[in-house]
Amino acid sequence: MQAEKKAVPRHVAIVMDGNGRWAKARLLPRLIGHQRGVESVRKVIRACNQAGVECLTLFAFSSENWKRPLEEVSGLMSLFMLVLERETAGLIRHNVSMRFIGDRSAFSGSLQDKIAAVEQQTSHCTGMLLLIAANYGGRWDILQAARKLVAKLASGELSAQELTEQALDQELSTFGLPEPDLFIRTGGEQRISNFLLWQLAYTELYFTDKLWPEFDEQALQEAFKAYANRQRRFGMTSEQIQNQQGDVHA
Ligand code: IPE
Ligand code: IPE
Ligand code: MG
Repeated sequence: MQAEKKAVPRHVAIVMDGNGRWAKARLLPRLIGHQRGVESVRKVIRACNQAGVECLTLFAFSSENWKRPLEEVSGLMSLFMLVLERETAGLIRHNVSMRFIGDRSAFSGSLQDKIAAVEQQTSHCTGMLLLIAANYGGRWDILQAARKLVAKLASGELSAQELTEQALDQELSTFGLPEPDLFIRTGGEQRISNFLLWQLAYTELYFTDKLWPEFDEQALQEAFKAYANRQRRFGMTSEQIQNQQGDVHA
């Protein structure tokens, strides 16, 4: 039982890709693909929550996605607003708290207000943390952390010797969360696309050809199964890891 529980990742990070291709294959507008993608979001939140995942990070909009046609960008913004309005009560019912990472200052005032309201309304929830990466970029995250560190150095709050990996980690938008154990990307591409760059250093990567609107509970269980069969060595040898596991189970 305990071994089974250990096989569940504490933090899952997902690049939800393939909405556009799903729609295109059905001769539908791309936005319909994004709408269908929301169904998968709902399924995956529920399944992760039930499986005991502590933190689920979803890549909803990258800092590069502004380059898309205006119509798609504004459609996505309206969809974010609609989903936040519609889903918050359900999240609270399931004790899920929601937080956003990324540069929210680029969003409209009303969307920024909504984001702040949802964070506040779910802040008392003690179950799974749902982290939405919106206008997020891994490079942006490292850069904004570096800027804060420079300010601390300039003010003397931090010395050059105190400038450690830990100090940088503390300024990242994911501070306080376990590092992602499992990264999932749907849609067949095998790349990070500027998602959590620093945080993914030792994450297990899992890629599937399934398009995001097709990704369901069963597909998630397959990813969990693949994860459970990985040996995470963190630079050590297999033998060292096996000895460690022996110690834990003794
Ligand atoms: C991912 O699906 C959703 C967002 C980037 C918002 P895409 O829209 O990238 O779908 P494809 O990759 O074009 O199929
Ligand atoms: C990554 O998907 C961003 C999100 C899923 C939000 P993209 O579709 O934007 O990535 P690229 O352009 O194929 O690298
Ligand atoms: Mg894509």
